[in-house]
Amino acid sequence: MPNVAFINGAFVPLADAKVSIEDRGFQFGDGIYEVIRTYHGRPFSLDAHLARLDRSARALNLTQPYSRADWTQHVLEGIKRAAYPEAKVYLQITRGVAPRDHAYSDDATPTVVMTVREFHPLDRSIQATGVDAMTTEDIRWGRCDIKSVNLLANVLARQQVKQAQVFEAILVNAGLVTEGAVSNVMVVERGTVVTAPEGPRILSGVTRAVVLDLALSEGLPVQEHFVSQTDLYAADEVFITGTTVEVLAVVRIDGKTIGDGRPGPITQRLAASFTSRVG
Ligand code: PDD
Repeated sequence: MPNVAFINGAFVPLADAKVSIEDRGFQFGDGIYEVIRTYHGRPFSLDAHLARLDRSARALNLTQPYSRADWTQHVLEGIKRAAYPEAKVYLQITRGVAPRDHAYSDDATPTVVMTVREFHPLDRSIQATGVDAMTTEDIRWGRCDIKSVNLLANVLARQQVKQAQVFEAILVNAGLVTEGAVSNVMVVERGTVVTAPEGPRILSGVTRAVVLDLALSEGLPVQEHFVSQTDLYAADEVFITGTTVEVLAVVRIDGKTIGDGRPGPITQRLAASFTSRVG
């Protein structure tokens, strides 16, 4: 059963999974989500993703309809039903269906949706050469730590990426690098791995946490502070992290070469450690 869908507790063919036009996810982007991928058929860092889903739900006062154990069971069942070599699992909870009104009532029943699709990992040659990125203004709201389905600013940034034919947009807020449109950004400065601190300006990436942990366990110095756009261009190495990109070198930004224009030694080391961590 390819492209499995799950809606409010039931597995159905994707084409039959329908949500009301009065769903607040559709009307207001009033919902949250997670994206999880499998390695060797097993969901990677599922607990961390479910913990973040809980944090997003609490931040929006959104009723989380399932326990972690329920979610785990549904995710594993979805992966089993889809039976792909590797899968990408998308979970979404919205505040549910109600006549359109910005304010919500506390007794709304959330809409829960999950899809399981085939995941195609990035071509290894992309990892070997690294990618081009562009910078763009970070026009998002003040709670980027909430993984909200309200992704308009990210949509616009990714469209710029598509038009510029680069790989990712690096978001810059008042001259400081926050993160990527769909990834976290790390730079290497004189051997130290530097990335924006957790807080309302970034999504606390699951991959980010794994990579920082790997860096520390390898004795690499790590600092969590904002880097300026000028320091980004001048960094020895730049890389992005995320569920779909893993650890990926950025070798050019806005046409400017980073380091010597190839994936740097620390990026390569962390990419290799990440590969062994995921088995
Ligand atoms: N995005 N920052 C943003 C804005 C993101 O959208 C993502 C992931 C990340 C990386 O987080 P993680 O390591 O937990 O995947 C950082 C997912 C993949 C998406 O929206 O499709």
